[in-house]
Amino acid sequence: MTEHERDDAGAAKRKAMQGGDAAEKKLKAGDTDGEDSGTGADVASHRPAGSDGVDSSDASGDGAGTDEEPKLSKRQMKKEKKKELYRANLAVRRAREKERQRQRKREARLNNVALGPSRKELKRCTMAGSDCRVRIAIDMSFDHLMSEKDLGKCIKQILRCYSANRRAKNPLQLHITSFDGKTKDAMAKHSGYNNWDVYFQPDSYLDLFDREDIVYLTSESENVLHELQDDKVYVIGGLVDHNSQKGLTLEIAEENGIQHAQLPIASFLEMKTRKVLSIVHVFEIVLLVSEGMSWKEALLHVMPARKGAAEKSTAPAPGREACGVADGSPGDADRAPVDAGGPPDTVPAASLPPGVTAQPDA
Ligand SMILES: C[S@@+](CC[C@H](N)C(=O)[O-])C[C@H]1O[C@@H](n2cnc3c(N)ncnc32)[C@H](O)[C@@H]1O
Repeated sequence: MTEHERDDAGAAKRKAMQGGDAAEKKLKAGDTDGEDSGTGADVASHRPAGSDGVDSSDASGDGAGTDEEPKLSKRQMKKEKKKELYRANLAVRRAREKERQRQRKREARLNNVALGPSRKELKRCTMAGSDCRVRIAIDMSFDHLMSEKDLGKCIKQILRCYSANRRAKNPLQLHITSFDGKTKDAMAKHSGYNNWDVYFQPDSYLDLFDREDIVYLTSESENVLHELQDDKVYVIGGLVDHNSQKGLTLEIAEENGIQHAQLPIASFLEMKTRKVLSIVHVFEIVLLVSEGMSWKEALLHVMPARKGAAEKSTAPAPGREACGVADGSPGDADRAPVDAGGPPDTVPAASLPPGVTAQPDA
């Protein structure tokens, strides 16, 4: 190689390296954008399909005008690997779950255990035909307090509540209140939702129901719910807040002079973490209890393992046998409504609805 040729080669190498630096800087900038926007999904939605977040036409230097794959930063490669692993595991998890379901069915058949209603039967199990008249409302008046991502999570939980209710032989009377604006727009992504067997109400629960019938469920309440009543509306805050709005629903209930209560978690379980549950878990617990399961069983059944819930050794009697129990039907007379199913050391409070005790639940 002549000296002139060596100079040319050196210049080309330097240029290529500068181009590489610029591309790397761009990638890093793209990465930060991704972080700001939150999730991988958000990131993906901002970027053209197949680009992996890199505008290759702009990545001057190495890749420009060639078929070469755009370079990914270390962080992006990690993200991609994670996503891949998740996708790979998803199939395995689904297969395992299917196998578990098959196994459960086989065992149920062998032990002559009823398998529950078929899909066809479930179609007939509507709220209108339900024996359960207990009303439950998910209060969506908090959508202005949630990011788009958290509102999406909240809507997903509503989907799960609906799905659980749809599978129940006697579904709860499910209302979604303050269903308007951002919430309605976010729900519109789920086509056909307006055909669901759910009462979607643009109005607030405060305008829809009699105040004395409303019981706001909130983990911060000093009152404890021990019994579900057919004439009550149990309100769950439609809020995914990562504990940033601690005590908000209690404040609202107090401001509006409505009753409030927490689930009887501490009566039955030792908890390693806080007693704030997600919307869907609260819904599922109430649904199971409305179907006749004891509070303890329902709490243990639904409570996520990460909450570290363990059964208390001296737990009181079950909460409620079925929907409509405390409506004067035979057998109700010898049960004091306030105490029914509650811990023996709790006291009734005149201003509280039956089934709610006014004593810290611990
Ligand atoms: C994720 S929590 C929201 C917590 C929120 N900071 C608040 O002030 O309610 C969602 C909803 O589930 C219900 N909830 C959660 N844990 C509960 C508990 N231990 N007892 C009763 N309701 C509970 C409440 O209605 C609550 O608004």
